[in-house]
Amino acid sequence: MKLFLVLALALLGAVSAHQLHEGSPEQEVPAEQGEEEPGEPESPCPTDSESFRVIVPGQEGHTCRYVFVNRCLTFRGAQHVCARCYRGRLASIHNYATNQRLRCTVRARTNRAQVWIGGYTSGRHWCLRAHWVDRSPWNYSNWARGNPCRTRPMCVAMCPAGGQWRSVRCWARMPFICQY
Ligand SMILES: *[C@@H]1O[C@H](CO)[C@@H](O)[C@H](O)[C@H]1NC(C)=O
Repeated sequence: MKLFLVLALALLGAVSAHQLHEGSPEQEVPAEQGEEEPGEPESPCPTDSESFRVIVPGQEGHTCRYVFVNRCLTFRGAQHVCARCYRGRLASIHNYATNQRLRCTVRARTNRAQVWIGGYTSGRHWCLRAHWVDRSPWNYSNWARGNPCRTRPMCVAMCPAGGQWRSVRCWARMPFICQY
C-alpha cells in the first residue's frame, strides 16, 4: 500500500511537471535553442542598411508585415531582436505565396545559405511536431527532402535559393525574418 502511494505520488508529480512544461512557450523551444553566452551584450537594433521591410497582402484584407534582418544571430538572439526592436516574433509562414515573396526578398539581400524563420520542432521520430513561435497553426510547410530531422528537436531555417525549409541546430548563427 505504501509503495502504491509513493508510486501514485511520483506519477502525479511527473504529470504536473509535464503540464507546466507544456504551458510555458519559452520552455517549448528546444533547450539548446542557442543560449547566448553569459555576458554577451544585447544585440543593438538593426540599422536601415541591415534590415529590409516587406508587406505581404494576406487573406481577407489582412496584411502581414515582415522585416528581414541581415545580421547573424542564434535563434534565441534573433527572437530577442524581433521582440525588442519590432515588437514582433520570428516569422510564421502559412502559404506558398508568402514563402515565395520572402524567399525572393531574402535572396536579393544575402548570400547566406539559410535564414531563420520562426519554426521549431519538438518530440522525436513519429512523435515529432512542428510549431511556430507565435503559436499560430502549423498549416503549411515546405520542408526540403530529408527534413525535418526526427532524431532531436531543432529550429527551422529557410534556404533562400529554393525556399525550402531545413532543421538546423538552434545555436547556429544566421540572418533572420521577423514578423510584426
Ligand atoms: C493557416 O493559419 C493562418 C494563421 O492563423 C491563417 O491565417 C490561414 O488562413 C490558415 N490557412 C489555412 C489553409 O487554413
